[in-house]
Amino acid sequence: MKALIAAGGRATRLRPITWTRNKHLIPLGNKPMLWYVIKKITNAGIKEIVINVNPGEVKYMSQAIGDGSEFGAQITYLEQRGGAKGLAHVVANAEEHLKGEPFLFFLGDNIILGSINKFVDRFVNEGLDCMIALSRVKDPHRFGVAEFHPDGTLKRTVEKPKDPPSPFAVTGIYIFDSQFFDAFKNIEPSPRGEYEITDMITWYIRNGKTGHEEITGWWKDTGTPDALIEGNALIMDDMARDEFCVDCKVHEDTELQGLVSIGEGSTVSKDCLIRGPVVIGKNCTITSSYIGPYTAIGDGVTINHTEVEHSIIFDGASIDTTRRIANSLIGTNASLIDYRRSHPKTGHRLIIGDNSIVEL
Ligand code: DAU
Repeated sequence: MKALIAAGGRATRLRPITWTRNKHLIPLGNKPMLWYVIKKITNAGIKEIVINVNPGEVKYMSQAIGDGSEFGAQITYLEQRGGAKGLAHVVANAEEHLKGEPFLFFLGDNIILGSINKFVDRFVNEGLDCMIALSRVKDPHRFGVAEFHPDGTLKRTVEKPKDPPSPFAVTGIYIFDSQFFDAFKNIEPSPRGEYEITDMITWYIRNGKTGHEEITGWWKDTGTPDALIEGNALIMDDMARDEFCVDCKVHEDTELQGLVSIGEGSTVSKDCLIRGPVVIGKNCTITSSYIGPYTAIGDGVTINHTEVEHSIIFDGASIDTTRRIANSLIGTNASLIDYRRSHPKTGHRLIIGDNSIVEL
């Protein structure tokens, strides 16, 4: 079985972060979001992966993620052609790579805690044509939703219904057999003009053998900064103990509590308290600061005299402020400096990119 990952789209609600970075490369626990998706897929024994990327992003994405050898897999990058016409269209665009055998389709912004092995095994062992993963949610109208017959069997799936027929969202993990490509020719665009993946699933429910599995530990990035920070925390909770290790210079006065990972070449000087789970990248300098739980700090970050927690700090950022930073996303090479040190007069000096959010 091969896998197709959807890693295109514009992620406008995450600007300014997504002005300069594909959303699927945003770091969670200091690894790109896509890393976790690839890991789940390869752990399920699937080693041939196609990644759908935006036009013009093949080189950029392949440089960031690599050829798959890190995962013992082979990754091919495929440019999305024909514009944004829905997720079923994204699959149809990959026909030349997928036809002839079943394939796993994984939306690159869906994070699953735990394994997908059982899901894949059921498809194979039960001789299914289609398999979907469902998750009970509080806000089904934001998702594809499953509708059931009174006897509990699947009736259809419907995309973002105003009146959801059940609380079960269709998550972004699907397996289809090779009938997909002929069946695609029979579906029409929805009223919003997209070839909906839920219409393809409905086709399978009516014409084939479709299985469904309820999963827990599903995290769907809603595309907001708060959701990303929450996702970062979930990922850090799910990290194995042995992924946290200290391999750096730590001043003897520094106090480390809980699970803390500090990258090579990083220096944590005296008077610091680091309370895990915390991940600090390579070549960072942390001085006289408190780094609190669920903080992920990228490479080459400088933090001085600051309290930070429950935040994602991207590579190269520098923070030196007496204010406590919490629930924040600090972008690549951003500077956050106490105004008294940056400006001699009163008032805040701000140079903030388009669509930024600053709460003073
Ligand atoms: O996450 C589960 C939901 O994903 C399902 O419940 C829905 O049925 C399904 O349509 C989808 O809905 P979203 O509104 O969340 O789709 P979104 O536009 O966020 O795109 C999902 C992923 O596919 C995301 O990783 C970006 C990628 N993508 C999206 C578009 C529109 C592409 O690769 N190319 C695209 O053109």
